[in-house]
Amino acid sequence: MTARPTYEQLKKDFDWPRAAAELGLEPGAPLNIGWFCSDRICDLGKQDKDALRWEDFRGESRTYTFDDVRVLSNTFATFLQDQGVTAGDRVCMFLDRVPELYIGFLGVLKMGAIVQPLFSAFGDDSLWTRLDDASTRAIVTQKKHLGKVRRARENLPGLEFVFVVDEANLREGEIRLDLAGLPRVEEYTCHPTTAETPSVLHYTSGTTGQPKGAQHVHNSLVSQYITAKWVLDLKEDDVYWCNADPGWVTGTSYGIIGPWSNGVTQAILDAGFNAEKWYAFIERQGITVWYSAPTAIRLLMKEGLDLVRRFDLSCLRHLASVGEPLNAEAVLWGREAFGLDFHDTYWQTETGCMVITNFPGMEVRPGSMGKPFPGITAAVLDTRTFEPLTQPGQVGLIAIREGWPSQIRGYWNNLEGYRKKIVNGWYICGDRASIDRDGYYWFCGRDDDVINTGGHLVGPFEIESALLEHPAVAESAAVAKPDPVNMEVVKAFVTLKAGFEPSKDLELEIMNVIRKKLSGLAMPQEIEFIAALPKTRSGKIVRRILRAQEFGEPIGDVSSLMND
Ligand code: PRX
Repeated sequence: MTARPTYEQLKKDFDWPRAAAELGLEPGAPLNIGWFCSDRICDLGKQDKDALRWEDFRGESRTYTFDDVRVLSNTFATFLQDQGVTAGDRVCMFLDRVPELYIGFLGVLKMGAIVQPLFSAFGDDSLWTRLDDASTRAIVTQKKHLGKVRRARENLPGLEFVFVVDEANLREGEIRLDLAGLPRVEEYTCHPTTAETPSVLHYTSGTTGQPKGAQHVHNSLVSQYITAKWVLDLKEDDVYWCNADPGWVTGTSYGIIGPWSNGVTQAILDAGFNAEKWYAFIERQGITVWYSAPTAIRLLMKEGLDLVRRFDLSCLRHLASVGEPLNAEAVLWGREAFGLDFHDTYWQTETGCMVITNFPGMEVRPGSMGKPFPGITAAVLDTRTFEPLTQPGQVGLIAIREGWPSQIRGYWNNLEGYRKKIVNGWYICGDRASIDRDGYYWFCGRDDDVINTGGHLVGPFEIESALLEHPAVAESAAVAKPDPVNMEVVKAFVTLKAGFEPSKDLELEIMNVIRKKLSGLAMPQEIEFIAALPKTRSGKIVRRILRAQEFGEPIGDVSSLMND
C-alpha cells in the first residue's frame, strides 16, 4: 500500500477521479461493490489473507480468508437467484453480527439486488415500517428473530422470501440458507451493475414522518475506499475493528466496504458492551486500528484506567470515533488510557462517507470534528440566507457541496423529501457548527428534533406514533433529555385520555410497549404525564420548548404559542 500523503498535500492535489483511478475504475465501466471487496482483493494476490476474524459472546470463533469471502458471497448470490430473487429486489438482512451478514451483504450486491440492512434489535413496528416502505421482497434472518419476521409478514404480502441461516423449525414458505452446507460456487459473474446502480438502502430518522430509506449507489465505493484508507489509516498488516452494527451506516461503510475494499483484515465481536471483554478482544486479536463511538468511550471511561492497565493494548496504533460529539474529556482520557488520540469523524447516513475528519497527522484539537476531507467542500451556512458564513466562530448549518461519490441519490419513495435538503447546490446536513480561524469544525447540535441516543438517531414521530397506539395515551411528544453516557436519551411527555390516571405502573407499561414495538433505543427512559402539550396556534406540538426545559436552555420565542 502506498504511504498516506499529508492533509495539506491532498487538499491541494486530490480529486475523486484520482480515488477511482486507484481502484482501476473507468467511467461507465461495470462497478460492483461485492466484486471489489472480494474478487479484486484475491486478484491482487491476497486470497489467503484473513478477511474476517469473527467471535461471539459465547467464545465461538470462525475465520474467513478473502477467497472464502469471494466464494461464499458467490454462493449466497447464486442461492438467492436460484430461488427467484432478482436484480433490483430489496433484500433485507435482519441478523445479528454473524458471518452470514457480512458475506451475504456482498452476495446480495453481487447479484444486483439492493441490500437493506436492519438492526436486529428492532421490534415489530420498526421492522414492519421499514419493510413496508421498501416493498422488500426477501429477508435473511436467523432463528432468534424469526418470530418478529413472521409477525411482520402477516401484513406484508410482498415479502415473498424468508431465508433462515441457522437451524429452526421452518414453516411453509421459509427457506433454510445453510451457507456452509451449500455447494461452493467458485466462479460467478456479477450482475452488470454500474456506478449509479442502487446498492444499499439504509433507514434513517428525521423529525417528520416515519424513517426514510437513504438510497446509496455502487459508486459510494470510491469514497468509502479512500476515506477508510486515509482517515482510518489502514495499512497492509492492520487488524481493524469497527464497533458498529451493519444495521447502521457506519457498520456497512466502514464495517464492510471500507476495510475489505482495501484488502484489510477485520475482526468482529458479536457481543454487547463489556469493557473487560473488549480489551481482551483487542489484545487477543492484536487490533491495530479501532473505529469506535463516544458512548462506548464514555462507558470505558466509567470502568477506569486500572482495568485498561490489566491488558497489553500496545497493538493499538490508530483510534477514531463517530456518531455523536466526541467531547474533549474523552479525547484526553484516550490519551491517558491508550497513549493515542481518538480521531473524531463527522458524517451521516446520507453522506455515505466521512466528510469532516481529524486526518491522521493533523493536530487534534480535543472537542473538534476536524476539517473537511480532501475532495469535500464544506461550509457552515447562514440559517436564513443559506450563504456560507465567513467569520470564525459564527454558528450556522453544516453543508456539503453536492457531488461526492457516496452522496445518496434520494430517499426511497420520497425524492422530494431529499431534494428539499439541497439549497443552492449545498446539501444541508441538519446539524449546526462553527469553524474556527484555522478551519477546524466545532459541533453545536442538531438543527431538528431528532434524538441522538448513543450515536443512534431516533425520530420523534416514530416514537409518538407508537405511543398513540397505547389505549391510555391521548397525545405525546418525544424529545431528547441529556444523559451522561448516551449523550441523549428519549423522554416522552404524555397527556392521558379521560379515565386514566398517571402512575408509575402506567409509565413502566408504556415504556415496555415502546421497547417491544420499536427498540430499547427508542424506549423513553422517562415519561412525564402532563395536562397539555405546548402547541402553536395552528395546533402543532412544539417539542423545542420541552427539549429546552430538559437541557436547562432558554425557551426562545413563544409568541405564537396557544397554551403557554
Ligand atoms: O447529528 C450528527 C451526528 O449523527 C448524525 C448522523 O447520524 P446517522 O445518519 O445515523 O449516521 C451516524 C454515523 C455516521 C449527524 O447528522 N453525528 C455523527 N457524527 C458526529 C455527529 N455529531 C457530532 N460529532 C460527530 N462526529
